[in-house]
Amino acid sequence: MPLSPGASVTAFAPATTSNLGPGFDVLGLALDGPGDTVTATLSPTPGVRIVSIEGDGGALPLDPQQNTAAVAAAATLALAGVALGVELELSKGLPIGSGLGSSAASAAAAAFATNLLIGGPLRKRELIEPCLDAEAVVAGRHADNVAPALLGGLILVRRTDPLDLIRLPVPPGLWVGLVTPAFELQTRVARAALPEAIELAAMVRQSADLAALVSACHTGDLALLSRCVVDEVVAPRRAALIPGCGEVIAAAERAGALGSTVSGAGPTVLALCRSRSNAIEVTAAMAAAFEASGLSSTSFVSTADCPGARRR
Ligand code: HSE
Repeated sequence: MPLSPGASVTAFAPATTSNLGPGFDVLGLALDGPGDTVTATLSPTPGVRIVSIEGDGGALPLDPQQNTAAVAAAATLALAGVALGVELELSKGLPIGSGLGSSAASAAAAAFATNLLIGGPLRKRELIEPCLDAEAVVAGRHADNVAPALLGGLILVRRTDPLDLIRLPVPPGLWVGLVTPAFELQTRVARAALPEAIELAAMVRQSADLAALVSACHTGDLALLSRCVVDEVVAPRRAALIPGCGEVIAAAERAGALGSTVSGAGPTVLALCRSRSNAIEVTAAMAAAFEASGLSSTSFVSTADCPGARRR
């Protein structure tokens, strides 16, 4: 158990995509690709400090009250009842405001590293609450990114208070393509664009699609899954903020995606696909559609059954 000053632990937490169509704030999926890395080092000075951030272009705050890595680390120490000092070095592999769970990855990597640093008193699931405290600072108290960032796989967040999470099976063979345009959309802004209330008929259709999507995950029915990647409530409001988004989704569907929608709060667009080769074709078509709208982009493909935070 490394508890001497200067001892350190490095952890990585992956990108995640959330919502998946009808599951606004309740469905989240871990991805295989970029992520954030945090090194936590024991310090003789109590409290949590961010000593360096790399890969953010200077955009993220060093203030430990405002930075999700520091908030999650401090909340992890508090939950464990440990009054130690921790210094964090954050290496951002994820673009900020991209719809790939950037703030959640920083929080998950920091909570995971901090817990290991103090001897691992908390289980992975118990780290979700500290990460929720962190998300609340920047993007609202939702667990659909932090839960898969920590636990991996596909997670249904039934409640955040008290936390009630359900792991869903990932349909065999499912791949994901993700295309991120060079365009930042802050989660706060993307959430402010959402309607205060929705019509009952829309609620009925959204509930039916979410229920059917969960069933498709259990049965591995990709044809049913394809019919359920639908969101008439949230994604259209975000799509209106993302240049070319409608064309990008249409391009994914023409290239054979099972479904395509905004990833999390955007502007990344996600496509669910039947195979790796189809995911590669689909992401190329999506990137071309963004290009036609004047936006360069980066993309990656991922299996849908990926691990969460781990030691590096
Ligand atoms: N479910 C959230 C949203 C994810 O769509 O706003 C953003 O982090």
